[in-house]
Amino acid sequence: KKKIAVMTSGGDSPGMNAVVRAVVRMSIHMGCDAFCIYEGYEGLVQGGDFIRQMGWDDVRSFLSEGGTLIGTARCMAFYERPGRLTAAKNLVLNGIDALIICGGDGSLTGADKFRAEWPSLLEELVDNKELTPEQVAPYKHLNIVGLVGSIDNDLSGTDATIGCYSALSRICEMVDYIEATASSHSRAFVIEVMGRHCGWLALLAGVATGADFVFIPERPRDQDWREDMKVVVQRHRNMGKRKTIVIVAEGARDKDGTKITPTEIKDLLADKSEGGLCLDTRITTLGHVQRGGTAVAYDRILGTLQGVEAVKAVLEATPETETCFIAINENKIVRKPLMQAVKETKEVAVAVDAKDFDKAMGLRDTEFSD
Ligand code: F6P
Repeated sequence: KKKIAVMTSGGDSPGMNAVVRAVVRMSIHMGCDAFCIYEGYEGLVQGGDFIRQMGWDDVRSFLSEGGTLIGTARCMAFYERPGRLTAAKNLVLNGIDALIICGGDGSLTGADKFRAEWPSLLEELVDNKELTPEQVAPYKHLNIVGLVGSIDNDLSGTDATIGCYSALSRICEMVDYIEATASSHSRAFVIEVMGRHCGWLALLAGVATGADFVFIPERPRDQDWREDMKVVVQRHRNMGKRKTIVIVAEGARDKDGTKITPTEIKDLLADKSEGGLCLDTRITTLGHVQRGGTAVAYDRILGTLQGVEAVKAVLEATPETETCFIAINENKIVRKPLMQAVKETKEVAVAVDAKDFDKAMGLRDTEFSD
């Protein structure tokens, strides 16, 4: 019987539980044994009780729970070879040679490295007499499939990562709440949102709430962003708006690479000097409320469909198959080479660093304020 394990890694994201449930149940449906590795790579390195066989009923009610019920961790030990050696031993001892990992690009890159090293890890374990040649013989290849779980929607090659629409919905809900009080007091709010180096959450939240101005890392602003923002905000106020909403991605930078901070934006909006906007301004950092809470329907569906596809990919893989991840492209669930997507993601980041973003992304200014 094939033994398939699933784990969640890196920052949690809404929809990860749907993945775990789908992988466990699809594996059982396909006649395999299903395992969960608790606490991400940490559990893989620790072994023992962190690796548990799962039954059909063990994942009941997972769909409506936020976070990841099997835990996650950012594990340093796995990034060193001795940690990966222990992880390989634990998999062999449990008879597992297929791993489905739901995490961000860092977690998935670690998985690809693990797979590439697998034969040499087994060799070393035999040389060290930690395992016998007979024990490792049935596990020549490690089969890995990635699922992208992240609120940031920051991996190239897929239209959406599992969790991004839940976080986006949460942000919009929060901005709606803030708007009510902003309007009552005729105030301005600077709202900082997550996303690490990616501005997807900030940009889409800006479109969905009709924000006045948005700062994202993918479009580093010229030095005159201060004047630009002032002109736009003033124009909207002249049109009769009683509220001003500026959304800033946590990774926003100007063209010199200097971080654009909520405090700097606030000071500009509140500037009481002649020609200043003189707006009563507050800062709200949304923080982890964006990542917690239950998944919206889209993320539950995405996690489920992609979890099912991941099990199929594991069962159809050959030793020659490149490590793939499950993507969604134009509403179709597809398998794609993992490392190519990681490379393309890095190329965009390099373009941003090279202050050549417009060329890389072709973004233009849009006027979408409410
Ligand atoms: O990658 C998801 C994310 O929530 C980012 O948006 C954010 O920068 C980071 O994780 C926060 O990490 P932590 O939860 O470790 O503070």
